[in-house]
Amino acid sequence: MADTDWENCYRTGDTQWDKGKPSPGLVDWLAAHPDLPRGSVINPGCGFGYDIREWAKAGFDAVGYDIAPSAVDGATAKTSEPNATFKLGDFLEDEPTEQYDWIFEHTFYCAVNPSRRPDYLNAIKRWLKPGGQFLAVHYFISDEDGPPFGTDHDEVHARFSDDFELLEDWVPRSYPNRTDLERMFWWCRKDRVL
Ligand SMILES: C[S@@+](CC[C@H](N)C(=O)[O-])C[C@H]1O[C@@H](n2cnc3c(N)ncnc32)[C@H](O)[C@@H]1O
Repeated sequence: MADTDWENCYRTGDTQWDKGKPSPGLVDWLAAHPDLPRGSVINPGCGFGYDIREWAKAGFDAVGYDIAPSAVDGATAKTSEPNATFKLGDFLEDEPTEQYDWIFEHTFYCAVNPSRRPDYLNAIKRWLKPGGQFLAVHYFISDEDGPPFGTDHDEVHARFSDDFELLEDWVPRSYPNRTDLERMFWWCRKDRVL
């Protein structure tokens, strides 16, 4: 199966995933946790940056990372928060120049071909600080004929639970056409320094 040409999707406007606003589940989670210590967060596959602007408004040093130049340019043009920046790169392949306190996932896992999920796990471990936290909105649909490639609770749990402690998982508020198809997972790396 050919890899998706993400830059071409942006250039031709083939961006059905783009809802023009942040993940409702992220908005609710940030509002519910005003007391979490602030730090750095990276959002791989950030698209036009709706989610990363929410992290920045909540006081985090927020970095969106995307492989498509048009996504990075568009996100930058839409953003005025000084603590939000956007970088061009391949999250699965690149060596991080720094590690982050948080990684936020939303519609990136489902964009990656399932054959590359081991690379995805390794990338999360490379980019996250020891003891860092990983917040994910996963899409519970079929894993065939993607992207989007779906997943389910068992697959997500099996993928991450060796390296991460699951703090909580729940059904979030969603965009109308994804209601009851999303589940959020909040993980902490098991190698946290106590
Ligand atoms: C389905 S879109 C989701 C965009 C955004 N999260 C949203 O919900 O609007 C997937 C995004 O992942 C980006 N992407 C795909 N593979 C990538 C990779 N290896 N590294 C970084 N970004 C990647 C694409 O360019 C695209 O912007």
